[in-house]
Amino acid sequence: VVGPEDKYKRLAAEMAVERVSDGMVVGLGHGSTAAYAVLRMAVLLRDGSLKDVLGVPCSRRVEEEARRLAIPLATLDARPSLDLVIDGADEIDPGLDCIKGKGGALLREKIVAQASKRRIIVADASKCSARLGEKASLPVEVLPFALVPERHFLESLGGKIKLRPGPDGRPFVTAQGNFILDWSQPPLDNPRELARKLESRAGIMAHGLFLDIVDEVIVAGPQGLRLLRR
Ligand code: A5P
Repeated sequence: VVGPEDKYKRLAAEMAVERVSDGMVVGLGHGSTAAYAVLRMAVLLRDGSLKDVLGVPCSRRVEEEARRLAIPLATLDARPSLDLVIDGADEIDPGLDCIKGKGGALLREKIVAQASKRRIIVADASKCSARLGEKASLPVEVLPFALVPERHFLESLGGKIKLRPGPDGRPFVTAQGNFILDWSQPPLDNPRELARKLESRAGIMAHGLFLDIVDEVIVAGPQGLRLLRR
């Protein structure tokens, strides 16, 4: 489905692809905005303006799309150090911290981001907010074995929790075989402290807070293109 914000998603993604040069290993993010970057890279590879680029996909869906577009791919096993990653986000604050994971690929996205030398987020301007949590709920990936205790743990911190449903009415299952709890109104007055609490729980495999990890954000909207740098 193409929405009114799609032209902005495309603009931001295409600007990010200007940072890709010959021979680079590039992380391919998941989601509709990052998909425009994948498409642009495919066009440039096809017409020869880009050469010898390898993509490392963040999800099965992106992998399939990249294959369909004939982008050569690599795994983290073969290429554990990436030159850059281009990915989307669900919410971005002025300090370049983000909430990600609406697409369910948060753990692999974080792994690919940590493996990359330069991390670029692309988005339409509706994703920007003054404070994380104002726009997006926070996805928390939980081991099925630990679903109930971790749910209780999150509830003890406040906010509302919903087990993410899958397309068939059963719970959504991540690439790692885990469930996702979507947490609305989590206590985000101190995101770093919250991240530490979540990371101390054995049953929590990942959370959607991407803090101090993004180097550059490219945002497009009715006011034009905006570039934010760390
Ligand atoms: C995927 O798990 C998410 O982190 C995406 O990056 C995020 O949902 C952005 O997707 P859109 O570009 O489709 O909004």
